[in-house]
Amino acid sequence: MKKDQVIALDGPSGSGKSTVAKLVAQELNLIYIDTGAMFRAVAYALQHTGIEFTKSKLDPADEQKIQDFFHHHRFQFAPQPGVLVQLDNLNLTDVIREHHVSRLASQISKHKVIRDFLAHWQRSIVEDRPAILDGRDIGTVIFPNAVVKVFLTASAEERALRRFEELKARGQTEHDFQSILKDIKERDHEDMTRESAPLKRAVDGLELDSTGKTIPEMVQFIVNLWNERKGSL
Ligand code: DC
Repeated sequence: MKKDQVIALDGPSGSGKSTVAKLVAQELNLIYIDTGAMFRAVAYALQHTGIEFTKSKLDPADEQKIQDFFHHHRFQFAPQPGVLVQLDNLNLTDVIREHHVSRLASQISKHKVIRDFLAHWQRSIVEDRPAILDGRDIGTVIFPNAVVKVFLTASAEERALRRFEELKARGQTEHDFQSILKDIKERDHEDMTRESAPLKRAVDGLELDSTGKTIPEMVQFIVNLWNERKGSL
């Protein structure tokens, strides 16, 4: 079967996917697509609709409301330098990093009507161009024929520590380590147990444990895989 010229980089939150993906994209001259940012943008956009996303299944009326929203609004990924994601004319680059948006993104992502919209949006950005996408279901659902599939992991403690240091560096000291760890474990649970496209390693994906590895080592690992395999495209 023909492979897609795509690198699928999946893994739980805080595993370092976006840092690694950006550098791989630079090194190999690929388009980089941060699919988490796209889920976050949709979460931000739907936050005041009154829909209860924590429910395991949405009512048909809610689904229709969401479809109508998608129909009447325009989401754009990286429409111009410095803008990661945009809704109509609103730049969402910074607001999607807020804590409540992270939580809501995890909740909305279990609903099929939303995942279908996201799947279509993600594939339409790539078209036939070489790309690296980071997310949860890139290697399993979005691009099952990706030429390289890597599942990046790290222990919950390690990921919580990185997040804690990152927030501290930004001057956000109101979150303590234990609450960040709890949050990461809850999000892992939500991501791994949802019915629609749960977070898991693709059967033909390679697991890369980032614990104790440097960023350049991980980047090199993926660059090497791409260089070995792209000849088969
Ligand atoms: O990678 P991130 O933390 O920015 O992603 C935010 C949320 O979006 C995450 O909790 C799960 C969801 N997500 C997803 O379900 N599938 C993806 N491909 C990317 C993100």
